[in-house]
Amino acid sequence: MTGASSDGSPFPRRGEPEFERDVRRMFTHIARGYDGFDHLASMGNDFLWRPRALWDLDRFRAGAPVERALDLGCGTGDLAILVQRHFPRASVIAVDFTSAMLARLRQRHARSRELGRLSLARATGLRLPFADRSFDLVTNAFVLRNFADLSRALAEIRRVLRPGGTALTLEITEPTSPAFRALFHAYFDRVVPWMGAAAGSAGPYRYLPESLKALPPRDALVAAMQSAGFSRVEPHLQSMGIVTTFLAGVSAPTEPGAQAVNSPVGQG
Ligand SMILES: C[S@@+](CC[C@H](N)C(=O)[O-])C[C@H]1O[C@@H](n2cnc3c(N)ncnc32)[C@H](O)[C@@H]1O
Repeated sequence: MTGASSDGSPFPRRGEPEFERDVRRMFTHIARGYDGFDHLASMGNDFLWRPRALWDLDRFRAGAPVERALDLGCGTGDLAILVQRHFPRASVIAVDFTSAMLARLRQRHARSRELGRLSLARATGLRLPFADRSFDLVTNAFVLRNFADLSRALAEIRRVLRPGGTALTLEITEPTSPAFRALFHAYFDRVVPWMGAAAGSAGPYRYLPESLKALPPRDALVAAMQSAGFSRVEPHLQSMGIVTTFLAGVSAPTEPGAQAVNSPVGQG
């Protein structure tokens, strides 16, 4: 079977034509255990990263209204639910291309008031089924490194944003300190795959460190966002750079000119 590890669990290989299909199969395979593993592998830090990203967003947008928001690659919904809670009057659409993750979202947040307000849709980020300039805000957390075509995904996000709109991307990145970076690689290259194999999911948790290596470094991601047409891009580091919130604005017609910020902002 293509795209499988020795225990039969899906192992997507970047560059192969079946990559997108295998990423979907992989998330179908891990959907039930996704949240538990996420909390364990991040040592609980993921509970802080998403709210902190929205805190940074508020400062970046400086009170601009959010009427329509899209959370892309919503998975089991933690960011989408937070976005809906943060902007209670906004119409928020949560999109993912894996049905099993969307099913898990419904199950997991069944008692949440926000679920009733949220719209769910199944679609790929490489071809978003929305008109140009439909959203004030597009968010995505831990999705970027899974796209078969990063430039195309960024172009799609940019396309569906209105002038004055913002993209928020939360992603795992390399820590800034060399000593901490060595620990980070040892953890993702050895510990996480070992934990995955013990849980019967060798493929997905071998894929995780490979997907991190395939993602361009922080500065190159900022440059890719600028090339996709974002006028102001700010990387906000969290947890010594283990994750970065990239905030990217689409200039409003009245804004005088494009201003890019390449250096990291803040560090929590
Ligand atoms: C690591 S999970 C992150 C889920 C969620 N955003 C979170 O913060 O926990 C990545 C999600 O992105 C989805 N995904 C990956 N590639 C995608 C694509 N091309 N289009 C839409 N969704 C995609 C997967 O199905 C999965 O649910």
